[in-house]
Amino acid sequence: MKKRKTRASRQRPALHRRTQATVADIVRSTATRLKRAKLVYAHGTADPVAEAAFLVGETLGIHPDHIAARTGKRVTATQRKKIDALVERRIRTRKPAAYMLKRIYMLGVPFYVDERAIVPRSFLGEILDSELFAGEDFSLLRKADSIASVLDLCTGSACLAILAALRFPQTKVDAVELCKAAIEVARRNVADHHMKKRVRLLRGDLFAPVKAARYDLIIANPPYLFDAGRRMYRHGGGKLGFELSLRIVQQGLDRLYPGGRFFLYTGTPVIDGTDCFLEAVKPLLAVRNLAFSYEEIDPDVFGDELDRTPYDCADRIAVVGLTVNI
Ligand SMILES: C[S@@+](CC[C@H](N)C(=O)[O-])C[C@H]1O[C@@H](n2cnc3c(N)ncnc32)[C@H](O)[C@@H]1O
Repeated sequence: MKKRKTRASRQRPALHRRTQATVADIVRSTATRLKRAKLVYAHGTADPVAEAAFLVGETLGIHPDHIAARTGKRVTATQRKKIDALVERRIRTRKPAAYMLKRIYMLGVPFYVDERAIVPRSFLGEILDSELFAGEDFSLLRKADSIASVLDLCTGSACLAILAALRFPQTKVDAVELCKAAIEVARRNVADHHMKKRVRLLRGDLFAPVKAARYDLIIANPPYLFDAGRRMYRHGGGKLGFELSLRIVQQGLDRLYPGGRFFLYTGTPVIDGTDCFLEAVKPLLAVRNLAFSYEEIDPDVFGDELDRTPYDCADRIAVVGLTVNI
């Protein structure tokens, strides 16, 4: 016999719904927990609120661009348990959330990432998408439509190569990476984005795998620190970590077609007020009489390095962008 619903049982779901937390509640309480744990945010998110939104959004299957519109959504007890466990693991292990969830977003585009490749954290993606780069009179690329070939050096997970292919839909992109394990991650991303025909992954040292090929645009995001352990993702070579960057400029300028553009995103120690990389790169550009621009993108990164050799004599380490027009 069908059981008649009592007033109490009819009301229960509504009552239950009222006590269920919303996405906004969970993001807020998660951010508070993360803040108390004093974590480092350098891998895809910049602060506890953004990190909380990422953890909550990924668990609930909400894209980061849509989370603000879904703050009123109710979170079930099961979902909440999952989020709590994730946050607990993030705090206990201090492992970057991107590695835990195997995902990173750049410009809203999702990429796979794991420990075999560095979590992308350059602003090159943003720069690629900005007016600074293309589309306006003052842009680096005045004729973005004429870009047919791009080279992305030190591609890591290939996220910048893929973003470049999305940004310039008519281009072919070569992406070079020295680390065998990182190339595996890059391969997965290229496949996930159906870019096998447009993004060619090559393993090797800087320009070696592309032989004599030339490009309309070269972008590079090399490692730029001196790393005593010579870790490939971190060690930029030389006494102050920018040897690789200098090699990229030296060899790269001959790899551009006339009218081509070169964009290097790197780092430099500033010692007694002198930007060491800029001083080293100036003669290379002066010899060719090339127009270039040089911007400090972040004046102070890797502050911990200033306590040890070789940076104990530096005022700071800055992130810089060098653009050269051929
Ligand atoms: C700072 S990471 C940048 C990765 C990627 N562009 C991104 O945005 O995530 C530098 C990358 O350069 C690679 N690398 C280091 N030395 C290299 C070399 N000589 N030739 C090519 N790639 C190199 C490292 O393995 C690492 O993946």
